[in-house]
Amino acid sequence: MKFFIDTANLDQIKEAQDLGILDGVTTNPSLMAKEGITGKDNILQHYKDICELVDGDVSAEVISTDFDGMLKEGEELAALNEQIVVKVPMIKEGIKAINYFSNKGIKTNCTLVFSSGQALLAAKAGATYVSPFIGRLDDISTDGMNLIEDIRTIYDNYMFDTEILAASVRHPMHINQCALMGADVVTAPLSAITALLNHPLTTSGLEKFLADYNKGNK
Ligand code: G3P
Repeated sequence: MKFFIDTANLDQIKEAQDLGILDGVTTNPSLMAKEGITGKDNILQHYKDICELVDGDVSAEVISTDFDGMLKEGEELAALNEQIVVKVPMIKEGIKAINYFSNKGIKTNCTLVFSSGQALLAAKAGATYVSPFIGRLDDISTDGMNLIEDIRTIYDNYMFDTEILAASVRHPMHINQCALMGADVVTAPLSAITALLNHPLTTSGLEKFLADYNKGNK
């Protein structure tokens, strides 16, 4: 399973990259705004800075909601760096744009996916990645993990190449469950990724090993 980090924060991206487990980055307009990155030029420069930091795919989201606007924006984003994946919302115009980008060899991430039918359409259109938002489904008392399972089944039934990129991940159990369900990629905040490191028996076990070593080496 690939690990992406879901942030536009360069320090956090660097920290995940330094762990040696990072395969890519996802961003969205809200995450860019959270870092105070505003204005087209600053946003484009920020994408370039992220690409410099990591080896893998970097999702950059279009703002347009019409077909022509998405094409113009997507082509501009894709020209920044070959690592860029054009992130397109799951709407009618978005599906048409994904099909266009797919035919041109431009990688895409279909975002704001909340049903397996939407994921089926994204795959038919040729999306590189599909982003089901599991946390936001959990927020409305719907089990987001069922969606990952359903999409996995559908994609396996027809051998779609589209990768399931589980998004809106909130905690380490989401990551564990996605791995069990066979998601291809999880994008998560740094806190959820580093939380995977922790177990109280690891902490206490290490303390005892070090204490015993120090007793014998006084
Ligand atoms: O990048 C999209 C997604 O991961 C958003 O997560 O926490 O805002 O639902 P969240």
